[in-house]
Amino acid sequence: MRIGLTSGDIAKSNNDAILFLTQEQLKAFKKSSKPVLYDLVEDSLEQLSFKGKLGDIEVVPTKLGRVIVTGLGKEEKLTVETLRRAAHVALRTTSKMKIKAISAAVPDVSLTEKETVRALSDGFRLSNYEFDQHKSEKDSKYNRVAEVKIHINKLNKELEKTLLYSKVSCDATNLTRDLQTEDGDVINSEYLAKFAQKLAKSHKLKLKLLNRAKLKKEGLNLILGVGQGSRFEPHLIILEYNGDKRSKEKTAIVGKGITYDTGGLDIKVRWMADMQMDMSGAAIVLATIKAAAELKLKKNIIAVAPVVENAVGQSAQKPGCIVKSYSGKTVEIGNTDAEGRLALADALAYVNKNYKPTRMIDLATLTGAVVVALGHNRAGAWSTDEEMMFKLKAAAETSGDLIWEMPLEDDYEEYLKSKKADTNNISSYRTFMGLAGSTTAALFLRKFVKDTPWAHIDIAGAGMFEKRRFYRPPNGTGFGVRLLLDYFNQK
Ligand code: BES
Ligand code: ZN
Ligand code: ZN
Repeated sequence: MRIGLTSGDIAKSNNDAILFLTQEQLKAFKKSSKPVLYDLVEDSLEQLSFKGKLGDIEVVPTKLGRVIVTGLGKEEKLTVETLRRAAHVALRTTSKMKIKAISAAVPDVSLTEKETVRALSDGFRLSNYEFDQHKSEKDSKYNRVAEVKIHINKLNKELEKTLLYSKVSCDATNLTRDLQTEDGDVINSEYLAKFAQKLAKSHKLKLKLLNRAKLKKEGLNLILGVGQGSRFEPHLIILEYNGDKRSKEKTAIVGKGITYDTGGLDIKVRWMADMQMDMSGAAIVLATIKAAAELKLKKNIIAVAPVVENAVGQSAQKPGCIVKSYSGKTVEIGNTDAEGRLALADALAYVNKNYKPTRMIDLATLTGAVVVALGHNRAGAWSTDEEMMFKLKAAAETSGDLIWEMPLEDDYEEYLKSKKADTNNISSYRTFMGLAGSTTAALFLRKFVKDTPWAHIDIAGAGMFEKRRFYRPPNGTGFGVRLLLDYFNQK
């Protein structure tokens, strides 16, 4: 989809047009700021008893074409999220009417022009997505809108930059959604390894790829153990982007890449059919480093993804076995379905030791417990570093990829004790939904990060959901890409 800015008169454009209105504007416009389109629709809106609530929409035919009047709700409640949602509502109506090109009047609201333009563009782009490549009936395919022209008062370079940022970050989000939702036999660990190779080439990134033989040689036995029942070869992907050669700072973003999670021999009794999305973390870090390179962000980033399938079969890892991790710590595999933390533990320890990042952030569809705690709107976030948490929260607010801070409760570490090894991979308290199950998973990971400032984001809820919520489609949501990009894009 092309989205462009123009200072041209919207009344003179040949396109149908979107007009966003707050409830207050509907009642009384300040004379000076009354948009041209408003005169054309005022009487009709009265007859239609249009209230202007968020979600309200009316298509009004006028002598200058159709005007899609879209409510923004109350001004005092208006945020960038309101605009993203309203843009989604308008775009879906546009698409249903099979309109290919549309103009939109930028609303006059109490946000900066930059915030307004970005929010509208993000809302349009994130909404103009559907996972419909496997639908054969033409009618059941989504009608993508090809072009939006946003009409503003005065053009400037800063706003053009904002639009580019929106395009690159939303394209990366939509790419993540495709990778998440597609069949796990297609997006398998070998596919993702090849994907990383292509990305390294096209975006001039440094790549280190550890295949099965190299994982064995280096002793990343936790990753190997998770993958030993699969016909696909496991890999550890490490991609480097150096956008600031003068800085010693470098952040590792580490994504869980379980391309399918059957649970292993502790086979899943629920939710298995969604487990092609258990590589969401890997998809996010790959798409994020791609976008960071395209945007030429002035940051040094290492994208890390253990990509491996948790399968069942005669060679699958057995519950109760003991594995020596890359860090040297031995792990009793109390449950083969707690595989994400195993793969991540080796990945975190390996990158920490060999790349010496100044910070690490991991993203993972790690626990059902976080879905119970927070639902699908927010990811759970744990951190050993206050400043990282503060910056992540700020990025959550600007991007709309919301997080909620959770505690690294030291006292619960004893839940992970093992009688046979240095640690167990599950808590011994599994009664009543697992007793702080998402926190014990975070505490397990903390054992492998040493002193490096670290944050862990559990996206089991926010990353995937069967229901559409405004501009977030069902299945893979792409949550996390725009969060990370906004985090890196901070001053
Ligand atoms: N991939 C799952 C977590 C998950 C559940 C993601 C639902 C998305 C939706 C993870 O590997 C898992 O199975 N976790 C177990 C851990 C348990 C065995 C300690 C869980 O949450 O039940
Ligand atoms: Zn699992
Ligand atoms: Zn899993």
